[in-house]
Parts: sequence; structure tokens; C-alpha cells
Amino acid sequence: MVKKIANNHLFWDGCDTVQLAETYGTPLYVFSQNMIVEECRQLQESFIKKYDNVRVAYASKAFNTMAMIQLIEKEGLCLDVVSGGELYTAIKANYPAEKIEFNGNNKSIEEITMAITYGVGRIIVDSIQELEWIAAICREKNVTAKILFRITPEVEVATHDFISTGQKDSKFGIPLEESILFALIKQAIETPEIDFYGLHFHIGSQLFTNETHLLAAQVALDLIKKIQERFAYTVRELNYGGGFGARYKESDARKPYAYFLDPLMALTEQFCLENDLVRPAIVIEPGRSIVAEAGITLHQIGSIKEVPGVRKYVAIDGGMTDNIRPGLYEAEYDGILANKAGEKPTEVVTIAGKACESTDILIKDIHLPKIETGDIFATFSTGAYGYSMANNYNKLLIPAVVMVNEGESEVIVERQTFEQLLQNERMLKKLK
Ligand code: LLP
Repeated sequence: MVKKIANNHLFWDGCDTVQLAETYGTPLYVFSQNMIVEECRQLQESFIKKYDNVRVAYASKAFNTMAMIQLIEKEGLCLDVVSGGELYTAIKANYPAEKIEFNGNNKSIEEITMAITYGVGRIIVDSIQELEWIAAICREKNVTAKILFRITPEVEVATHDFISTGQKDSKFGIPLEESILFALIKQAIETPEIDFYGLHFHIGSQLFTNETHLLAAQVALDLIKKIQERFAYTVRELNYGGGFGARYKESDARKPYAYFLDPLMALTEQFCLENDLVRPAIVIEPGRSIVAEAGITLHQIGSIKEVPGVRKYVAIDGGMTDNIRPGLYEAEYDGILANKAGEKPTEVVTIAGKACESTDILIKDIHLPKIETGDIFATFSTGAYGYSMANNYNKLLIPAVVMVNEGESEVIVERQTFEQLLQNERMLKKLK
């Protein structure tokens, strides 16, 4: 991690983070525009420009805001959305619908109608009901939908169970059983309103080895061969999902995109060559790797509590409401005192959140300089699945988000207010 420190303060994309905390308040999400853009450019260099007929669709669930979507468009990436809300945000950010891919294991009729009305580029179908709904809506509107089937490739990945999705026992994807998958494919091919493009898989998140992507790709490739043989139908697209690991702690050894993508492309090209198949378009859907490291969160230190002989709890003015990942996945983070960034660690403390929940511990046993109430704590790598999983537990407010770029800062999400917290609530009229 490139940490820039000046005058004992942590700087993020040219901005003094202590100053940011003062100006915008805490908790505060801070995103470096340069770091996001750099990730997009890495993907351009190691994939988009390197191979013909490939696309990258940013999995916006990692961080879906209008400003982020503007950046994604500017950097020439496609967009993956998984709900009416994410789709609505993209459309409001003027993102072109035809570059949107719509995923999700339980899209509602309303969401599918919305997607078809906007004219999204691809719908990744996850069930038979969905296929039928899409066909019916298209028939009514006299349009066709470009679809892929999400398959369950039946591979086990080396990540937290809660974020692995490609195993046989999964709520995601269509089982490989021929009686199910091939019946669906046949139905898709025979339905005039459906333009069947190909297959999709996503096997899990925060992966540091390429083996499972390769195993899953082999499953998909074997299937396109069978589809060619059985239906004389040429699959035009394969989507290999996301899941590329990001760096959370100094000790995480992040792999470059090429480590995943070069072997995947070699496998794909060789298989197609050997089996006399046209190499389909290849799409990937990274979310986390594009935004995780660009984001930090700033909190102010409040109460400091020493449990003699046990540990020292240092509480921040946020916690699981702005970063649920430690509580939910035992995710580990690293941080620094932003206002004492140049000082040597002198004590070991545990950073606790302010939610009424014992699992609301952000970091256990972190080495920090002498910590005092009022200090600013910066947590690194909170850009992915931080803001996007923020919640109002205990009626804590969702923090503001600031984009920083070469010394300049701009609010891209305003801090929630108490009024907004209650805007959908109504007093009971029939109180007896
Ligand atoms: N495509 C699909 C269909 C997905 O389900 C996901 C993530 C992605 C792409 C992007 O995966 P990524 O590149 O970000 O690993 N909330 C969890 C992560 C859940 C990921 C769900 N799907 C966390 O905070 O770790």
C-alpha cells in the first residue's frame, strides 16, 4: 500500500485526511479517483487492449453511486447491476443501457420490465421462471432480449464460505444436470423473443489463486462444445465473473489481473482452436479489485477503555454500520492514526465500533502510537462493500462519501440526516 505521509498526517490522493475529517466530519468514506482510474487502466492494458472481443463489466454492487458510474463510463468499462436500485442509479448517471449487464438470482417482474424497457445489453438468467417472464415481457413489447444463463460450475473456492458461490449447493446459477440446463438452453434457442448469447459463472470473491477460474472455465467450454454438437448452435459469449482478490493487509499478496486472465484466455483460445469452435466474446465482472484499495474510512476516536490484563478498547464513531465485513465475514483490516501517521507504534489496542453488538469490532490487536480521544483513525481498503453494505442499525447515520483527486475533494454522497432517517416513517393514526 502506498501511504503518503506529510507533517505527521496521512494524505490520500493529495488530500490531507485530517483536514478532510475536519471539513466533512466523521465517519467519512474517502475514495481516490486516481486509484480507481489506475485499476481501470490496468484492466485496459492487461485485458481489453490485449485481447480481441473481450469486455469488462464493473460489478457495481461493490460501490454503486452515480459518481462511480460516471468514472466507469469515462474509463470505457461496461457495468454489471443486480437490482432495480442499481439499475436506476446507472440510468440516472446517464450510463448507456446497452452496456449494462443485469445479474441476480431473483429478479422481480418489475425489475425485468424495467431492464427491458431501458434496453439493457444482457440479462443473465438464473432460473426457468425468469426465462419465461423475460419472454413474456419481450413478446408484449415486441422486442428481443440478449441473455446468458448463469451456471453453477460446481467448483469449490478457497475463500470464506459466505462469499463463495460456485459450489453445487448454491442458490446461484442453474445446475449442470443435463435434464435441467439443456432443456433450458433448448427453450431459449427456440423462443423467438430470446437471443441466447451464452453462459456465465461467478465462483466467489476475494480469490488469490487462478485455479478455480480455470476449472470453471473448462466446465463452461465443455458445455459450449456440447451445445454446438447437440443444437448446432454457436455460443457467442462467455462471462467468467469477478472475484479477483484485493489487498486489505500489508501481508496480502495481491495478484495482477494477468495472473488470472492470461491463463484463462490461453485455455479458452486453445480449446476453441482444438474443437473447431469460434472463440466467443469473453466478459469479466470484477467489483472489489477495482475499488477496494482506493477507499479508506475516517473515524474519530471516542471512548478509550482499558480492561486490565485483557485489552484496551478504543471506540470509533461508526463501525459495523459503515463496515459490516469484520462482523459478517471476520474480514481483517489495517489502519493508522491519520493525525499521528509518522509516529511509531507504542501500544496494542482493539478498535471497537459504537453499535450495540459484541461483533462490532473493526480491528483486533492493532499496533498504534499513543492513542487519545479525538484522534482520527483511517481504515485502509474499505472501498468495496463498505458504503454499499452500510446500514442504519441503531439508527446511526450513513456517512458521507468524498472523492479526492490530486489535492481536490468533492462530496459524492451527502451525509444522511436525522430527517432523512425518518422520511418514510409515519406515526400510527389508529392509536387506541
Ligand atoms: N459478478 C457476480 C455475478 C457477482 O455475484 C459478484 C459478487 C461479482 C461479479 C463481483 O465479485 P468481486 O470481483 O467483487 O469479488 N459482500 C461480500 C462480497 C459479495 C460478492 C458477491 N458477488 C464482501 O464484502 O466480501
